[in-house]
Amino acid sequence: MPATTEARVSRLRCINCGNIADYADQDFRCPTCGDLFEVFFPGWQTGQGLRAQGHTATELKSLWLARRTKFEPENTSGVWRFRDLLPDLNEGHSVITLREGNTPIYDLPHCARAAGIDHLLAKHQGMNPTASFKDTGMTTASSFARQAGFRWVACASTGNTSASMAAYAARGGMRSLVLIPEGKISWGKLAQALDYGAITCQLRTDFDGCVRVLNEVVRNMPVYLLNSVNPYRLEGQKTAAIELLEQLAWQPPDHIVVPGGNLGNSSAIGKALLEMKELGLISRLPKLSVIQARGANPFYRTFHELSGKELIPMHAETLATAIRIGNPASWKKALRVIQATGGTVEQVSEVGMALAKSEIGSDGVGCEPASAVTLAGLKKLVQKGFVKNNESVVLILTGHVLKDPEFTLKFHRGELFAGTEHEQEAQLLKPQQRSPLVLDANVEAVTRTLEEFDRSEQTPPA
Ligand code: F0G
Repeated sequence: MPATTEARVSRLRCINCGNIADYADQDFRCPTCGDLFEVFFPGWQTGQGLRAQGHTATELKSLWLARRTKFEPENTSGVWRFRDLLPDLNEGHSVITLREGNTPIYDLPHCARAAGIDHLLAKHQGMNPTASFKDTGMTTASSFARQAGFRWVACASTGNTSASMAAYAARGGMRSLVLIPEGKISWGKLAQALDYGAITCQLRTDFDGCVRVLNEVVRNMPVYLLNSVNPYRLEGQKTAAIELLEQLAWQPPDHIVVPGGNLGNSSAIGKALLEMKELGLISRLPKLSVIQARGANPFYRTFHELSGKELIPMHAETLATAIRIGNPASWKKALRVIQATGGTVEQVSEVGMALAKSEIGSDGVGCEPASAVTLAGLKKLVQKGFVKNNESVVLILTGHVLKDPEFTLKFHRGELFAGTEHEQEAQLLKPQQRSPLVLDANVEAVTRTLEEFDRSEQTPPA
């Protein structure tokens, strides 16, 4: 990486009291007021207005395109390719990268019809190296951890952060400590952390309990915290929005819809949108909206019932274990960017989320349950008139369908809501369910099955 120059200088600023720092304590909290830090870029100020690295918006766009033709790690990474908008590592320090970013955009015609809009796009962050959006932030924050000389990195997680952190720590020659809620993360995510060599502790508590324990650990041990309170994580996660706008030829969509758990991702995407606007990379802001599961909706309540003034922590319950979070750390950052872009917050039911997940699957794309709240939420935003049917919408899909195959199998076998309060409502899922068929090993059995299926498709529903 090139040396830090005056024009590239970034610093940390407390989002509450404005305290400015160049280094944070291990808990990444402002020593004056205890709130979170964010990265800001005083080096962008020039006599000709805001310029990242001294470049105009047009220069940045062509620089980023030119880097696509190069083969060095910091150019093949879809995060570091946009390094002009990221904090710098010091000279002599290299990035830890798995060639993250570079994720595709898909159109979702079936889902667009289901939502009642003309056209719908999804940016699939599940197509990252460890199959979730976390990699885009982990490449930056783990690189800063190694630069700071830490041997250990740690996180509390609902599964994806731990999988990602463990991979990047392994690549960077660091040890990793994972705290996860026992029994409440999917096997796929747990398996990843184990394979990448993390010391994995399943605590008898929920995600919020894991965060409390980890905060104590970090205060007492030389361990680098890689939860999304770490502002360097959010800087990397910003690049999903930059890459999205590049893929859309810098034409902003009307809406971007993201799932909300700990609210780091929405904060990062919103920060990127605001910075792109300030730098003249885009001429108007998409509305950024956050969707939560109804059983894990503290931010929805903050937004609609408490006028954004406070967040009351809750006990969270949802089958979308990735967003089973009752006390989101970054709610103030998320609130600020949602308000700045004119977006909103919506909540969705468990059945609505499950239906949406299968619909995303029907478009041949697929995602994990937490990602599917975006489509379920979009349907509600269309019904409420917040999204018009001719407006352009991009869903951010955060995790790969294979992250949680147990959920998917239970869905198709009709077991997901059996014996729960949602059983009645779950009847509407029947047309989407495709339980595997067990047949005798002969051609007739298979042929009969196809014929029966064709007949049922031709019979109009009663
Ligand atoms: N989608 C998926 C698949 C996630 O794993 C998460 C968060 C979110 C959405 C919500 O993003 O927290 O930035 O609002 N997973 C974290 C974890 C908490 O530990 O893996 P957020």
